[in-house]
Amino acid sequence: MNILVVGQGGREHSIVIDLAKNNNINQLYAAPGNGGIAELATCVNISEMDIDRLINFAKKNTIDLTIVGPENPLLAGIANRFQEENLSIFAPTKEAALLEGSKRFAKSLMRKYDIPTAEHASFTDAYDAKKYIETKGAPIVVKADGLAAGKGVVVAETDKEAIEAVDEMLVNKAFAEAGATVVIEECLIGKEFSLMAFVHESNVYPMIPARDHKRAHDNDQGPNTGGMGAYAPVQDISQETLDYTVDKILQKTADGLMNEGRPFTGILYAGLMMTENGPKVIEFNTRFGDPETQVVLPLLTNDLLQVFLDIMNGKDPVLQWEEKSCTGVVVAAKGYPGSYKKEIPLTGIQPCAGGFVIQAGTRKTDSGLVSDGGRVLLVGAKGSNLSNAVEDSYKCLDSLALSNEFIYRRDIGKK
Ligand code: AMP
Ligand code: GLY
Repeated sequence: MNILVVGQGGREHSIVIDLAKNNNINQLYAAPGNGGIAELATCVNISEMDIDRLINFAKKNTIDLTIVGPENPLLAGIANRFQEENLSIFAPTKEAALLEGSKRFAKSLMRKYDIPTAEHASFTDAYDAKKYIETKGAPIVVKADGLAAGKGVVVAETDKEAIEAVDEMLVNKAFAEAGATVVIEECLIGKEFSLMAFVHESNVYPMIPARDHKRAHDNDQGPNTGGMGAYAPVQDISQETLDYTVDKILQKTADGLMNEGRPFTGILYAGLMMTENGPKVIEFNTRFGDPETQVVLPLLTNDLLQVFLDIMNGKDPVLQWEEKSCTGVVVAAKGYPGSYKKEIPLTGIQPCAGGFVIQAGTRKTDSGLVSDGGRVLLVGAKGSNLSNAVEDSYKCLDSLALSNEFIYRRDIGKK
């Protein structure tokens, strides 16, 4: 088979590592890929948003299956377009991906199908939004409706902060169209976790839970980021809670989307808060999470390509997981998530005993590997328990002798 992976992050490197283990793959391609992916797949210089060229490439190279990492092409309709051309793709249509693309849509679906989430209201008018904030009172959460690269959420400790967030989004148009509607919701208290599932219409195959670390600095200080590290599974979330999450959240969402005429095929990701009253949805993504994928897939013992094929062909795969823990620490360019340098040389980063190195924002040049983004690497390890995995991840990191142009958190998985 010929396989195409769309995307260029650590998540896609992790997917490519797993796919590359399958002996039935003739050609494995990534568009555009990165420095790490280039070791295992042929990288083709097509942007993830250039759907026309991706279709031409898939036809010309007889691609049998396309896997999509990031959300932007999903909302731009990559799955719709591939399907129109009779090209096989494991990804939701733009109608189904609206679950990630519009928080207002996601919230109204959850309300309609009684899926546990924070109480909320949606607004396009700043005056009404502020009145709602005054009625409910802080702490309260203000969210831009559309995609905002993780920056569209303000967890406001005071009414004033919440009102400023409304002004930023609705009056100053800080997120343009993505912030033309705001969702204001109850602030949930508890521990966060993420649960992803492979989904084909009403068939839901859950993965193991993971926990991201979103803040830039140790002890959950500093600005929100795309994620600075993760581990899986999550010991403080019980099997009973996971079963409840699969039944009452993932399954109901898949069924709800079917019922709305938006059948979902792809990866459904629930970001959850374990509250006093059980798990509640913080957000949905319609793709593999990053960095969760990099710590979940290493524990999957099934052949990943076979899982995709079985699910699409209506065969029920039985997912098997290693009884181990896996952690990953993100290495970022100094300054991330603010401004940072690119083209920082990366020398001697491969491989390390007892651990693994996933590449994210990297690029191969004639003079060697260089950084090409904010999040550059994820250094991880598996262990018989969480603390062993954490210890080996940091040992591996130390052995890389990275320059001080890079930063990482020292407390991933340690809380
Ligand atoms: P998101 O960009 O939607 O993943 O949200 C970023 C972070 O904001 C989440 O990981 C949570 O820590 C926090 N957050 C979002 N919604 C809520 C909520 N309703 N209550 C408490 N925290 C929230
Ligand atoms: N780790 C959160 C995300 O992928 O959006």
